Amino acid sequence: TAVYRADYQAPAWWIDTVELTFDLDPAKTRVLNRMRVRRNPDVPAQALRLDGDELNLARVMVNGGGTSFKMEGDQLVLENLPEGDAPVELEIFTTCAPAKNTKLMGLYVSEDTFFTQCEAEGFRRITYFLDRPDVMAMYTVTLRASKAQYPVLLSNGNLVESGDLEDGRHFAKWVDPHKKPCYLFALVAGKLVAREQHIKSRAGNEHLLQVYVRPGDLEKTEHAMNSLMHSIAWDEARFGLSLDLERFMIVATSDFNMGAMENKGLNIFNTKYVLANQATATDTDYFNIESVVGHEYFHNWTGDRVTCRDWFQLSLKEGLTVFRDQEFSMDMAGSASARAVKRIDDVRVLRTVQFPEDAGPMAHPVRPDSYIEINNFYTVTIYEKGAEVVRMQHNLVGREGFARGMKLYFERHDGHAVTCDDFSQAIADANPDSPLAQHLPQFRRWYSQAGTPVLKAVGLYDAAAQTYTLTLSQRCAPTVGQPEKLPFVIPVQMGLISASGQEIALRLQGEDTAQAAKSRMLVLAEAEQRFVFTNVTEAPVPSLLRSFSAPVVLECDFSDAELLTLLAHDSDPFNQWEASQRLGLRYALKAITAPADAADTDSQPGAQLLPAAFMQALREVLGNDKLDAAFKDLVLTLPSESYIAEQLAEVDPQRVHAVREAMQLQLATALQADWEALWLAHSDTGAYRPDHVSAGRRALAGRALTMLCLASAQSGDTVWPGKAYQRCKDAGNMTDRSSALSALIYSASPLAAQALQRFHALFQQDALVLDKWFALQGSACDRGGNVLPAVKTLMKHPDFQIKNPNRARSLIFSFCNNPGAFHRTDAAGYVFWADRVIEIDGFNPQVAARLARVMDRWKKLAEPYRTAAQAAIERVAAKPNLSNDVREVITRALAD
Ligand code: ARG
Ligand code: ZN
Repeated sequence: TAVYRADYQAPAWWIDTVELTFDLDPAKTRVLNRMRVRRNPDVPAQALRLDGDELNLARVMVNGGGTSFKMEGDQLVLENLPEGDAPVELEIFTTCAPAKNTKLMGLYVSEDTFFTQCEAEGFRRITYFLDRPDVMAMYTVTLRASKAQYPVLLSNGNLVESGDLEDGRHFAKWVDPHKKPCYLFALVAGKLVAREQHIKSRAGNEHLLQVYVRPGDLEKTEHAMNSLMHSIAWDEARFGLSLDLERFMIVATSDFNMGAMENKGLNIFNTKYVLANQATATDTDYFNIESVVGHEYFHNWTGDRVTCRDWFQLSLKEGLTVFRDQEFSMDMAGSASARAVKRIDDVRVLRTVQFPEDAGPMAHPVRPDSYIEINNFYTVTIYEKGAEVVRMQHNLVGREGFARGMKLYFERHDGHAVTCDDFSQAIADANPDSPLAQHLPQFRRWYSQAGTPVLKAVGLYDAAAQTYTLTLSQRCAPTVGQPEKLPFVIPVQMGLISASGQEIALRLQGEDTAQAAKSRMLVLAEAEQRFVFTNVTEAPVPSLLRSFSAPVVLECDFSDAELLTLLAHDSDPFNQWEASQRLGLRYALKAITAPADAADTDSQPGAQLLPAAFMQALREVLGNDKLDAAFKDLVLTLPSESYIAEQLAEVDPQRVHAVREAMQLQLATALQADWEALWLAHSDTGAYRPDHVSAGRRALAGRALTMLCLASAQSGDTVWPGKAYQRCKDAGNMTDRSSALSALIYSASPLAAQALQRFHALFQQDALVLDKWFALQGSACDRGGNVLPAVKTLMKHPDFQIKNPNRARSLIFSFCNNPGAFHRTDAAGYVFWADRVIEIDGFNPQVAARLARVMDRWKKLAEPYRTAAQAAIERVAAKPNLSNDVREVITRALAD
């Protein structure tokens, strides 16, 4: 059944203190929970209803004596508690079975170690509780376990006592000095080792930082520890927020549903976002670790100190914390162009994943109005679009204004559970003269209305009057339950560029002409507004939405020539890149929608889909010494198949695939000399360092090698595949090794099989590298339907374990997100998908529901895909005992 935001009510009871005692045993863990509870004087007297899930209840006591209670569904209901405001001592004794917990929510065992995951509603799988984020308590936790099997016993806060017990057992007692909602509770127990670091904060306080991993992995924790230290320093410098704990711990586990979790003082991480050395981790892994370590650390203030009133406010902490981690990564990246590369990466995720979500059956506002299963709402809309909504507020009040707003936010709300409205109110109140304060009620539509707005721009140059009139208008398509949309507040950072590439001074009619900047922000707050620029001496090309200043689709009738001007001259690197993408997308769509006989891409794979002027512009980008390698690599990356598909009313995935591959081939063959030169200039990256400059060089070298192998496959030449094979063998780092392997697979080289075999033999002990090995094969470029049979064979490989989420994602999710391989005319990809959703739902509904989302856009498919997709989805829907998680996704997909 659904939960509605409008139904929010304050809790009838508060829980002030919690004393938990665990006797840890994988088969049967005993949990004693002593709480001091009291009635909330602000609401009418009610029974105390505690949440539980898969618990065995042994005993309930009230103020030291017996009590009556009843069960209503999963809730434990206490109706006869003493009346009045006095606190009540409640004691609840339960047991649970961590070894059988395959959902990985609550208390579970991974590789003989105990871990917890409580967000959003996992704490109720540990003990009966008011499992909601607005109930904040002080925690004291005692862990008891076999000393030989579980030498390390961790929980939130400070270790106050530890020692030996009888029968080879020992204990540790932890006290968290901060009150917290139960979703931030954590415990870890097992054989772990830690990298330690003592630091002194700006304020002069000493802190102990620890990164816990399994014995043998210690040498892979240096980057995570450095990332943590950088995060701490950054939050102090940028926002004046210091670490409020004596001890801060990160623990890595290889069985984890998500990326990581910000439990107070005891962050639990997927190993993927902790472990790295140059032999096993790629540059992308290094950057992801920095960003996720930062993200979880930043939650200590935005999430833990100030938390969410209810789960509808999830983006209050997630959108804000993603914004903070993005800013952190940009500040760490340093140079302006490295910042732009990070921004482009973030926008690509938004456009390729969030925009489709906003247009599909799971569309929801950044602050949803209802949900069936909250786990389904840890989405790119809550996280990434939420971060864009925070970024727009940042842009509307400026960098200093935003810091002021954050300060006010903490002054008002530290220690409380609050709402998205509280956040925007604080930012606006700290900046009363800002456009945000001016338009706050309209701005908040970003939180309440789902869907991606379309921003339409029409420019008109009047040579006689020397004016340029820019008319901006907006519209937003209906989404589930929201047929009409009101106008959003859209900040449009912009500039004007002359045909020769000069930035034109911007003089807006009616404004003081003295302050003519070359880049400025326009604020569109109505359905349509006109902006007149004066003293414009020649027809300009508008550069709109610089740095992607709002999460919208920009519609503007650029000619090819205008886009080439922006690609060559725009001072905003984001829009420079954007111009290349618009052109690439334009040519792809033209070929896809052309009558089949005109663009015969199947029979003529070398068809010239990209015109000479565009190829020449790309050549100039590649040869431009002033541009960073990472930026060049992004310009030469064609829009993805799923992004192209999203622009079409009806999608034939095989046609999209064929056209994009034909474009790739043209890039490979027509620019062959350029790729060779790039390879020569960039392939030797010297001693490995995961910094942005050398990572960019490796990325561009990897692309060059892929292109050269692709061209070779066409000509029958064996030199480049030979070089790629050699690099697979000898590379000094995982980035070069895996990109060479990927080049062989992508170009369907006969050497690929042997290279894969060698790679496996070399890394069979390393779970995270094996994930890459599976993922490379699941995402291989399809040739005559060869990927699905390979995936089916790999599922029988001794190293494949479907119950491990990382491994399941590496093979199954990679395949289902590989459009050319997944969408088959024989429907076998969809049959495989349905089988896996049903199989995984049997033990881990959260992971199954993620996989179910792959079919979100099925209604856009052309026949025969559409009918086959529907049949597969209906087969899942017909399965009895489907989890709420999968049921919600599937029901929405089938609804009209
Ligand atoms: N709060 C965590 C993070 O973003 C993610 C937790 C996800 N949990 C879940 N049950 N979906 O850092
Ligand atoms: Zn988060």
